[in-house]
Amino acid sequence: MQPEGRVSRALDPARLRVAVVGATGLVGETIIETLAQREFPLGRLDLVASLDSEGAPIAFRGRTLRIQALDSFDFSAVDLAFFALDTALSERYVPEATAAGALVIDNSRAYRMDPTVPLVVPEINSETLPQGIGRGLIANPNCSTIALAMVLKCLDDLAGLLEVEIATYQSVSGVGRAGLEVLAREGARRLNGLDIEADETFSGVPIAFNVIPQIDDFETSGYTREEMKLVLELRKILTRPALRVNPTAVRVPVFYGHAAVVHARFGDALTPDRARQALESAEGVRVIDRLAPGGYPTPVTHGAKQDDVCVGRIRQDLDSPRGLNLWVVSDNVRKGAALNAVQIAERLVEILI
Ligand SMILES: NC(=O)c1ccc[n+]([C@@H]2O[C@H](COP(=O)([O-])OP(=O)(O)OC[C@H]3O[C@@H](n4cnc5c(N)ncnc54)[C@H](OP(=O)(O)O)[C@@H]3O)[C@@H](O)[C@H]2O)c1
Repeated sequence: MQPEGRVSRALDPARLRVAVVGATGLVGETIIETLAQREFPLGRLDLVASLDSEGAPIAFRGRTLRIQALDSFDFSAVDLAFFALDTALSERYVPEATAAGALVIDNSRAYRMDPTVPLVVPEINSETLPQGIGRGLIANPNCSTIALAMVLKCLDDLAGLLEVEIATYQSVSGVGRAGLEVLAREGARRLNGLDIEADETFSGVPIAFNVIPQIDDFETSGYTREEMKLVLELRKILTRPALRVNPTAVRVPVFYGHAAVVHARFGDALTPDRARQALESAEGVRVIDRLAPGGYPTPVTHGAKQDDVCVGRIRQDLDSPRGLNLWVVSDNVRKGAALNAVQIAERLVEILI
């Protein structure tokens, strides 16, 4: 039975009209690539970006599609729209798209904490999708949150997660195409003995050969907005409103792939072997954990163009049988954004056909 709501019409996969909004950005182009790779069923694909990109050619399944300008784009001709714009643009255009009848999957942070909008990692909480169908909107979580939720959900089911300390090591692609350009430019200048000019992309601090303990703006609490996204989004996805999360988010000079150090405490005792076994059978998770050089995931080897969330360095807390340390690596642009969004769309199609 189809859920109640404005977007309750049946979808015909062969005629599905899909739009990617922000199609020229890192997430948008990876959504297009993922739709092609996973043979997502669709009848028509519209690619949308700013006026500056209007008419630019993009290859899709052997054809050349042209970018259309968002300003004049008609969402009433669209069944499903992937939004990969910044938060301000999503706040402006998502309501227009949903009012026109499109079902939207939004990658920005604009609607993630809206209680009427499900925040979905399909392996964890796809049962919340019918609510999103009724609302016409589903939110895709933050890139680090998705990977951490996949690992923590598995361990929570096993031993009852009580609290978690997280330190992220996030690549520059997390801020979009501009992040890649700034790191490449600064790196080249440094290697040529030239000065680096201040760039606002990374809070006015050089990123090449540096490590920056700030991602996004500071809140009055002293935590950054990125750190609070981890806290609030993990609680929402894991349906654990009181979960204790202690976050630090750090930007590192890596092009692709986010990593995180995790220390988790559980209600029950949990050995590294049991954790490994459970993680190995969790959908979308891969354990790489050998006590040998390179026997663990890294962003360069496992965080670019990879679907799985990789876990290694699984160790018992030195002082407690109820604590574990872990190292998590994932592709922030794929599972952290584009792949997760396409997996949501695949589940929506299953529900609505
Ligand atoms: N990068 C990640 O790892 C990641 C992970 C999770 C979530 N996200 C979120 O996903 C969203 C997109 O991120 P991204 O990394 O893909 O950013 P990006 O590489 O900077 O791409 C931004 C996109 O927005 C378009 N755009 C900018 N101004 C526009 C306007 N006035 N009208 C229409 N389109 C406009 C750009 O089109 P033009 O080329 O025409 O300017 C481009 O397609 C953001 O909300 C981000 O926070 C990103």
